[in-house]
Amino acid sequence: MKTAIIYASVHHGNTKKIIDEIAKSNEVDLIDATQVTEKDLSGYDLIGFASGVYYGKFHQSVLKFASVNLIENKNIFLMCTYGGSEAFKSMESIIDDKHDNLVGRFSCKGFDTFGPFKLIGGVAKGHPDDKDLAAVAEFYKKLIAGGVVNK
Ligand SMILES: Cc1cc2nc3c(=O)[nH]c(=O)nc-3n(C[C@H](O)[C@H](O)[C@H](O)COP(=O)(O)O)c2cc1C
Repeated sequence: MKTAIIYASVHHGNTKKIIDEIAKSNEVDLIDATQVTEKDLSGYDLIGFASGVYYGKFHQSVLKFASVNLIENKNIFLMCTYGGSEAFKSMESIIDDKHDNLVGRFSCKGFDTFGPFKLIGGVAKGHPDDKDLAAVAEFYKKLIAGGVVNK
């Protein structure tokens, strides 16, 4: 099973933490969409897109990467970290357009000091925490066992 995770984690590295938790014990290629804009994805069996939520969407670099590089008939999973609420729609519509299969979604809170939240010391402080990391490890384990996982 060859897996790639394309990600952007620009606020506090929250999303990177959950990806690193997966990469720690699984063989995955990590692709930073803020640095890499083109990549042949044909050799991957499983492709993940991971991002913080910014203005209700995945990071523009991840959306752009998916629009440019995603090919049809791939198994896709999505992961996001958020200060307020999860938001998968921006990616799901691309997956639909490209005729791929969404096989899993994971989300958890991520420390957020954007805008006025900074004044109160941020929200979702301490996240992702150990429990979030254990949950993402379990999510990925089920995913590669062939399950469809929606957490
Ligand atoms: C510019 C900006 C916009 C954001 N917009 C949202 C939002 O619309 N909804 C939300 O729940 N969190 C929002 N957040 C909080 C982030 O989604 C949260 O902190 C996330 O964990 C950041 O991930 P990262 O550290 O991997 O970049 C925003 C943060 C920033 C910096």
